[in-house]
Amino acid sequence: TGAITLDPGFKNSGACKSAITFLDGEEGILRYRGYSIEQLAEKSNFLEVSYLLIFGELPTAGQIAKFENDIRKHTLVNEEMKNIIDGFPKNAHPMGILASLTSALTAFNPQPVNVSDNQELYDTICKAMGKFLVIATWTFRKNMGYPLNYYDNTKGYVENFMRLMFELPTGPYKLDPVVINALDKLFILHADHEQNCSTSTVRIVGSSHASLFASISAGVSALWGPLHGGANQAVLEMLEEIQANGGDADKYLAKAKDKEDPFRLMGFGHRVYKNFDPRAKIIKKAADDVLEALGVDDPILNIAKKLEEAALQDEYFKSRNLYPNVDFYSGIIYRALGIPTEMFTVLFAIGRLPGWVAQWKEMRLNKEPIGRPRQVYVGAPLREFTEIEKR
Ligand code: CMC
Repeated sequence: TGAITLDPGFKNSGACKSAITFLDGEEGILRYRGYSIEQLAEKSNFLEVSYLLIFGELPTAGQIAKFENDIRKHTLVNEEMKNIIDGFPKNAHPMGILASLTSALTAFNPQPVNVSDNQELYDTICKAMGKFLVIATWTFRKNMGYPLNYYDNTKGYVENFMRLMFELPTGPYKLDPVVINALDKLFILHADHEQNCSTSTVRIVGSSHASLFASISAGVSALWGPLHGGANQAVLEMLEEIQANGGDADKYLAKAKDKEDPFRLMGFGHRVYKNFDPRAKIIKKAADDVLEALGVDDPILNIAKKLEEAALQDEYFKSRNLYPNVDFYSGIIYRALGIPTEMFTVLFAIGRLPGWVAQWKEMRLNKEPIGRPRQVYVGAPLREFTEIEKR
């Protein structure tokens, strides 16, 4: 088999060829299917970007209307899923519930998808887009003790997210275009990011021909970690802690620089971006705009700006090319929209879903081999078994 090249964390190893997302970390460039993230965030919407990522081209008016309609057909979730939800403790983390519910969908949809059947593949994708959105919001309803909501076919996908989350039996939820636009933009910015930890997980699980729901469920679990999508919750908790301690940003910078202290400045640094994260630039501007449009004056935003400014001038962060990433400012917008902190990573997952689906589809259609990294064994050499009484 020859010598094995070790590359922990896959810092320099490519695992696949992909035609979905282009990322240049030195230049801070991010493109989906050739379109710049800046243009997509400004001109497109989340469902259109989902279509683009999954099927490769911007949809025509007819294609997007059909896609939206076909997703709607799959927004009913099996009633028995509610029994599963009821089994979770009241304060369970929504990401844990989401991973479990996504996995549970395999029990209600056990047939393996035949990926060479275009129609079957398309239906599976619509099913994932429809059901995942609904169960993602149910994780919140469960924790709040609210009755579970159903998809409203007269509303759009992102509008439905807010309705599913917040509409109460007492009356219709009033949709605010400022909120919907902000969410649309955030979902677009999260929609794909080539071979990140959760996406690689989805591809590797799917490479065993496990089902799409099983692969996505694994992706949700990977995303939950604080070094990945869980960072958005961690950032806000960090900012709140700084605020509670009198707003002393320097103290937290010192902690982040101290190699004896495991604390890291959450929302800072990236494996690939060594210049800046183009998503963070757009989100920072959006945070200003959204807070202004909603008339929210959040002192947390000022703390974040102070912290960013101090870090960008600090030799430790400068020499390591550590810049704010997508998670640094997103939570401030979520908070202004009334999303509870524990749900932040669930929103990331909703945004990332089309990316996971697109990458899973590409991997299967390219007939990629099963993912199976090698290792360099460093354990004990051959030993003689010792009977238990002699140990
Ligand atoms: N605070 C303090 N020091 C840091 C940080 C940070 N946030 N990030 C990296 N470093 C230091 C690290 O200690 C190391 O220093 P040295 O060279 O002296 O050992 C150097 O910078 C390089 O870091 P690394 O850990 O080797 O880099 P990585 O590519 O393995 O990790 C990362 C990337 C994103 C996991 C890391 O920067 C980090 O933990 N950031 C905080 C968590 C975070 O914000 N995650 C969200 C990432 S973006 C969106 C997403 O993926 O979900």
